[in-house]
Amino acid sequence: MRLGVLASGSGSNLQALLDACRDRRIDAEVALVLSNVPGARALERAAAAGVPTACLPSRGQPDRAAYDASLVDRLREAGVGLVCLAGYMRLVTATFLSAFGPGEASRGCPRIVNIHPALLPSFPGLHAQRQALAAGVKVSGCTVHFVDEGTDTGPIIAQAAVPVLDGDDEPALAARILAEEHRLYPAAIGWIAQGRLSLQGRRVLLDGAPAPAPPLRSPDLRAGEVA
Ligand code: GRF
Repeated sequence: MRLGVLASGSGSNLQALLDACRDRRIDAEVALVLSNVPGARALERAAAAGVPTACLPSRGQPDRAAYDASLVDRLREAGVGLVCLAGYMRLVTATFLSAFGPGEASRGCPRIVNIHPALLPSFPGLHAQRQALAAGVKVSGCTVHFVDEGTDTGPIIAQAAVPVLDGDDEPALAARILAEEHRLYPAAIGWIAQGRLSLQGRRVLLDGAPAPAPPLRSPDLRAGEVA
């Protein structure tokens, strides 16, 4: 399967996908990396891995549908079958969604996925870690989901949880979540590449059954310690 990755920033999730493809942990290749931000570190990571890149600056582009149409053109030219948003700081338009909507080969699943640094449906949108800290939650995490027309509202593929510890600030919580993102995103893309996911309403099935929840991973949160 040929992946197109859209990234606006550091690209550490892109790196996790590049590494997983290189090591054949997922049966896919990153065919194109697109960024809307000139100089994004993600573009350097892709170039270092020998992956084609393109930067289409979004600043000063008021016509969002036209902008997305140009992205879609690039992705189609590269033969991309699945679009992975990885720190892509723009909402995609209906133009984009319809170009990579459900298909027969994708078993009815949309062909755009995203990773979000919170346990959706809690804390969608920007600054998810800040939102979690402000809400005083004791557990947060990350979510891989199909993309629909809403903001982080699409069907949930997989989630991983981390504890929120006393004294956490935003960078500390973000780093703990990011470590889980780097594990979860390749795993979820691997399922898609193997054609193992399907949709039943809003529920994502793995091999026709609900996907098992991963265990809490942090050594700080052992069984029996949660009230
Ligand atoms: C990640 O936390 C991701 O969940 C969010 O943006 C961040 C991107 O980080 N959507 P990176 O660019 O992959 O390092």
